[in-house]
Amino acid sequence: MREPIRKILITGGAGFIGSEFVRVIARAKPEAISLVIIDNLTYAGDLGRLKEVFSKYKFYKADISNQKQIEAIFKSQLPDIVVHFAAETHVDRSIVSAGPFIESNVKGTQVLLDAAKKYGIVKFFHISTDEVYGDIKKGKFTENSSLSPNSPYAASKAAADLLVKAYIRTYNFPAIIIRACNNYGPWQYPEKLIPLTILNIMREKKTPVYAKGENVREWMHVSDTAAAILKIMQRGRIGQVYNIGTGNEHKNIEVVKRIIRILGKSENLIEYVKDRPGHDFRYALDTKKMKKDIGWQPKINFLQGLERTVNWYITNLSWTQKHFAKKLSVKF
Ligand SMILES: NC(=O)c1ccc[n+]([C@@H]2O[C@H](COP(=O)([O-])OP(=O)(O)OC[C@H]3O[C@@H](n4cnc5c(N)ncnc54)[C@H](O)[C@@H]3O)[C@@H](O)[C@H]2O)c1
Repeated sequence: MREPIRKILITGGAGFIGSEFVRVIARAKPEAISLVIIDNLTYAGDLGRLKEVFSKYKFYKADISNQKQIEAIFKSQLPDIVVHFAAETHVDRSIVSAGPFIESNVKGTQVLLDAAKKYGIVKFFHISTDEVYGDIKKGKFTENSSLSPNSPYAASKAAADLLVKAYIRTYNFPAIIIRACNNYGPWQYPEKLIPLTILNIMREKKTPVYAKGENVREWMHVSDTAAAILKIMQRGRIGQVYNIGTGNEHKNIEVVKRIIRILGKSENLIEYVKDRPGHDFRYALDTKKMKKDIGWQPKINFLQGLERTVNWYITNLSWTQKHFAKKLSVKF
């Protein structure tokens, strides 16, 4: 084992959660630790998210499913730790076309696992989602619940989780799987419910809500997610799965109406649209293991976090307009 840790490689570091993680770790890290980011800058990736820590990482524009590129980076950088965020992440897009999800989320994970295995990394943190468990009417999913994904996105993430588990078992591979609930916060690409709603309502445009908006999601501010991952990096046990969530469950319609109230606009802007095919009704994570083994609790109250997020989008409207104005609608 190579100690002490000198190099952390982060995939998907130009994305929403990955960039928050990079900002946090870049601010806090000692000089001796260096950061390497791999991201192929898909429509969802943007190095603008990292401008405040611009000089603190080495960047590779590379596709994680490209074995040659990835092996070459591992060979030259020899990272000690990998934190793997890179993925295609939008459920609606996966329903229209599953191919990129299999390439990036399944094959990409396999390529990374093989490179990490070949070059002897110390720990591999695989960032996954509550969606791998499928939906649940009552109660909560524990880390031991079976995987029963319903969308192509969730299936691709579950396949990646199973690959990681298989590498742990077969090769004694030093990995930890982290399953997070729905994230929100600054810099989220505005195809996802919260930023899409904020942007539509701000501009007094109709905003879509699937069916009657009764579907329930568990919400966590992205800074709580980054803090949880850091804690797991320090205290997590190899081979384990950790759920990270908040218990902040809200129906989609409640979230949309709350944003409308924060912005002082009319509920007439809500447009109820045909439901998403296969739409999961409710996700909910049991996080006792995180509290007991890791000593982590989320800090940000949902309503305060939501207000802060709305304010961030008001202040940073130019970011969303410049990069993303035309690419938001997905038709089934
Ligand atoms: N956003 C959420 O609510 C949420 C919840 C639970 C888990 N997750 C997981 O967290 C991770 C990050 O999610 P996010 O919301 O930040 O996603 P995102 O879509 O904002 O960012 C994904 C990043 O990965 C990069 N990427 C995609 N395919 C790639 C490839 N083949 N090679 C290299 N880079 C590639 C993109 O350019 C982008 O920068 C994902 O693995 C996702 O499944 C997200």
